[in-house]
Amino acid sequence: MKSLQTQGIALPRLGLGTFRMQGAACQAAVESALALGYHHIDTSEMYGNEDDVGAAIAASGIARRDLHVTTKVWHDHLAPEAIQRAFDASLDRRGLDQVDLYLVHWPAADTDLPAVLSTLMRLKDEGRTRAIGVASFMLRQAIEEIDAPIACNQVEHHVFLDQTLMLHYLRSKAIPLIAHCPLAQGQTAENSELARIGEKHGASAARVALKWLLDQDGIAAIPKAGRAASQRANFDALSLTLDAQDRRVIASLPKDLRLVNPPSILRAAILGRAGRGGRQCRPPRHRTSRAHDAHAREIADHLAPLGLRWWCESRVDALMHFSDETWRRLKNAGLTMVFCGAESGNNEVLKKMQASPPIRFWGRHRAPANSASQP
Ligand SMILES: NC(=O)c1ccc[n+]([C@@H]2O[C@H](COP(=O)([O-])OP(=O)(O)OC[C@H]3O[C@@H](n4cnc5c(N)ncnc54)[C@H](OP(=O)(O)O)[C@@H]3O)[C@@H](O)[C@H]2O)c1
Repeated sequence: MKSLQTQGIALPRLGLGTFRMQGAACQAAVESALALGYHHIDTSEMYGNEDDVGAAIAASGIARRDLHVTTKVWHDHLAPEAIQRAFDASLDRRGLDQVDLYLVHWPAADTDLPAVLSTLMRLKDEGRTRAIGVASFMLRQAIEEIDAPIACNQVEHHVFLDQTLMLHYLRSKAIPLIAHCPLAQGQTAENSELARIGEKHGASAARVALKWLLDQDGIAAIPKAGRAASQRANFDALSLTLDAQDRRVIASLPKDLRLVNPPSILRAAILGRAGRGGRQCRPPRHRTSRAHDAHAREIADHLAPLGLRWWCESRVDALMHFSDETWRRLKNAGLTMVFCGAESGNNEVLKKMQASPPIRFWGRHRAPANSASQP
């Protein structure tokens, strides 16, 4: 299998995600994947399965040097001593003396990124992890202010989500994007357009979705598959060939479905940057324009009278759905909008907002003079 070269490691482009698998079922699934030819396993202390992954690796008989193992430190262990303890515990649980990639899973509200990354860099210097990286946040600061040797950014990416800005930035730094939820948590399997493309090639919709990701430069993907049949189908995606018409159809699918929206990222942005008087308001999970509009009206009508002065939208795309009447209510309520979320956003919407903001807004996102503002 092809690998991506990054910060001295070779990252196999297809890995096995292991979130929501534990115990004997997890061990069996990882053993099955390793037997099929997967050489990249993604886990985290938060998944509670590092020992099962370790047991599967030991049982596989595959030489350690032929495997790539990623694990992550959870957001409640980000003080330097806590990272050290979490890292030691991760290695103990797996029975390994080194991991290939150690990531900061999600940020905490008070993340001291320089301290976090210098701890990770020390683990790398000691040879206990071969590379380090982040998942979903603070990428620009990690690279441009701290100059950390970031080997990847692990973020949500699939056929239903636009990650153009993030990819543009990562490619400019030669850093791979590891796509988590590459099958949109199973939703790609139910999409009729993908199924039609699949029929043409004798493949499933999920395989089509995965190959679309893997055809792009600098992307690795870590689909979770507990069933051996799914693991095999995903592995076989590598041999599928999509044509230009297939890519056009996939490009036309809606690209605003975000499934993982870490609350700690929003809190970190709010507490770190906005001070008091604000409130985190998560957009509705369903993505009808009416729901987004109702959500914004609720903020104006019910929360503003309670003293809310600004609010935080993690999905910039939601703004497209606000009606004129809603913008008027928000403006009359004196509200300021804060954009946050490490990689949410849509270039065109941001440009429009900056050209004539319907209300005052600020945040880490700026309409891009260069298109690298998102990370
Ligand atoms: N860094 C982060 O914050 C973060 C966040 C989320 C996830 N992750 C990582 O990314 C991995 C993948 O994300 P995910 O598990 O949330 O979602 P996913 O990989 O997009 O989807 C997993 C779902 O798709 C199903 N599936 C897999 N292959 C299939 C196929 N060929 N046909 C039909 N259905 C198929 C699986 O079913 P079966 O299992 O029944 O086969 C499972 O229900 C995680 O396991 C985790 O390692 C990281």
